[in-house]
Amino acid sequence: MAVVVIVGGQWGDEGKGKVVDFLAEKADMVARFSGGDNAGHTVINPYGEFRLHLVPAGIFRAHTTCIVGNGVVVNPPVLLEEINNLQEHGVDTSHLFISDRAHLIMPYHILLDGLEEERRGGKALGTTRRGIGPAFSDKIARMGIRTGDLLNKDAFRNRLSSILEFKNAVLCKVYGKSPLSVDEVFEQYCHYGDKLRPFVRDIGPIIREAIRNNGLILLEGAQGTLLDPDFGTYPYVTSSSPLAGGGSLGVGISPREINHIVGVFKAYITRVGSGPMPTELKDEVGELIRRKANEYGATTGRPRRCGWFDAVAARFSGEVNGFTELALTHLDTFDGFPSIKICTAYRLDNEILDSFPGDIAVLEKCQPIYEELSGWQGPIDGIRDFAQFPSEARRYLARLEELLCCPINLVSVGSRREQMIKVRPTF
Ligand code: IMP
Repeated sequence: MAVVVIVGGQWGDEGKGKVVDFLAEKADMVARFSGGDNAGHTVINPYGEFRLHLVPAGIFRAHTTCIVGNGVVVNPPVLLEEINNLQEHGVDTSHLFISDRAHLIMPYHILLDGLEEERRGGKALGTTRRGIGPAFSDKIARMGIRTGDLLNKDAFRNRLSSILEFKNAVLCKVYGKSPLSVDEVFEQYCHYGDKLRPFVRDIGPIIREAIRNNGLILLEGAQGTLLDPDFGTYPYVTSSSPLAGGGSLGVGISPREINHIVGVFKAYITRVGSGPMPTELKDEVGELIRRKANEYGATTGRPRRCGWFDAVAARFSGEVNGFTELALTHLDTFDGFPSIKICTAYRLDNEILDSFPGDIAVLEKCQPIYEELSGWQGPIDGIRDFAQFPSEARRYLARLEELLCCPINLVSVGSRREQMIKVRPTF
């Protein structure tokens, strides 16, 4: 079969969970490889409606092994609550495994995420305040605590004591806050460790066996390409790589094992948090998209900024990921729009740019240049066969394929599993 990475092509929230839920029908394994509970994947299926923050969207298929990879940061109470909720809805979680190398989000990470944001004042990044940045910083600074550490209580206590000494100094001396108690954090995390113990292991042998057995393995990305710490709109980015390359690092397999890279895009574009967004619509059209598509953050509930499809950013996303195919979600949102715009280049003073600038000061000055296509009446949410789509909708997809030089193989016209339409066969 194949190893397939599913990557967000924009600023996150493209509907990756929905695409994974659909593709997982035939998958032997689904693995999350980056991010943490800043991600929020909404999945609607016969079990109910779920907002998954850490558990891979393959969990609903009993034959699919689900992995939380080493590249993810795990907030134990969030993960445990998610597992409980799934179990209460009759979902089997015995096929879920958490990498012992995945770093933990600790209470001081969450505190510091909020305190750092407040200190930035008007220049706040608009993080999800889930402790993601501080947890990944500690991983790289070699000051992290890993999921596997919870299984050896003596070693965990020693490590926690020395790290907390430093963190308490920052909390008290930099921010004037109260220190955290080693005993309390230790007790709390030992309790989480006991509950997580059945799920935690070295995931390497499990993944390598699935590859040897020629299984279909989906690597489920979180966030989106334009939030990548290197290639996104730095510093308005997240703290781990959502790119296809992050897929091999985040579960510990060679890039040579990856066969397909699926880029997931919305038919328009959204962003939560601060940072430049050239095609943002601050008018009634943006409001209409937000209302029709319910564009509010799955994790924070914040209204998402909405705009027309940005093909300049999308092409760049294709360049850094190497998409082999695309999935386009929320096409039904455009039902009844008289016309639809696509940004095909930027105007920068007297220059025309067709590449995505790395410097946000430049991007902030870019004005979108639009191409306008005819809309359709709809509704298209009941259509299950691509050939039945209105010709204007097919024309819109064909133009995006042309601009991105990549086939769109899947299109979604609603949030339910059966509203994912195959345009042509996938792997
Ligand atoms: P952090 O990842 O919480 O540190 O937030 C950094 C930036 O990434 C902020 O602009 C967030 O709104 C954004 N972000 C993080 N996770 C997601 C996501 O799952 N979808 C969309 N934006 C996200």
